Amino acid sequence: MRKNIVAGNWKMNNDLKATRKLVKQIKKSIEDKDLNNTRVVIAPTFVNLATAVKRSKKSKLEVAAQNMHQATNGAYTGEVSGEMLKSIGVKTVILGHSERRAYFGETDALLAEKVNTALANNLEIIFCFGEELTDRKEGNQEAVVESQIKNALFQLDSNAFKHIVLAYEPVWAIGTGETASPEQAQDMHAFIRNTLASKYGSEVADSVSILYGGSVKPANAKEIFSKPDVDGGLIGGASLKVDDFSAIVSAF
Ligand code: PGA
Repeated sequence: MRKNIVAGNWKMNNDLKATRKLVKQIKKSIEDKDLNNTRVVIAPTFVNLATAVKRSKKSKLEVAAQNMHQATNGAYTGEVSGEMLKSIGVKTVILGHSERRAYFGETDALLAEKVNTALANNLEIIFCFGEELTDRKEGNQEAVVESQIKNALFQLDSNAFKHIVLAYEPVWAIGTGETASPEQAQDMHAFIRNTLASKYGSEVADSVSILYGGSVKPANAKEIFSKPDVDGGLIGGASLKVDDFSAIVSAF
């Protein structure tokens, strides 16, 4: 049975002190919860990952990175490798976030390389993709999403999908307060699962968790998560406040 996941993408927020505080608060808030097949993940910035890993040991909280470089090592000033992440106990990496695509020029081809390198390092991947507002206005959202998935993931064999979580994040809903309706999310998630099934078969497609991201809040999480093909959320803004994040975890 596939897992439900609530993952907090902290983006470029929280210094060391704030990281320590929020990790402690989140740990406490989930300690006594019956998580009921739900994984809880946070993704702090690179500099605070080791602290977050150390402080979430022996708890139910998991720690992910927000990005990594596609090369194993070498002359790439300012970059961080998958091997480095693994060496400090990080087991999951977010790849393909729309902010990485928009502000740092990450293309599908580059993401295919990053995906391959992450898997070679035994890292689990939360792979993000989603259409822009103009795509949706023109009715192209499915074609865009299909090509993002195919171009970055369809070089993989079916076993790789044991280590992949998908995150559908319509760009128009990220940080805008605007959310896809539960029906829009469900329709797209079903389409994504069909896209996977067409290449890898329904057993693989049914085993992959597909998260929704884009202005998920305590007020809308329950309805979005109640949809059959929505297996959780990738949460930005609302993951920075323990009460909101905890309420979203409880939405399952
Ligand atoms: P948001 O961000 O929840 O602030 O919209 C989601 C994301 O970027 O993953």
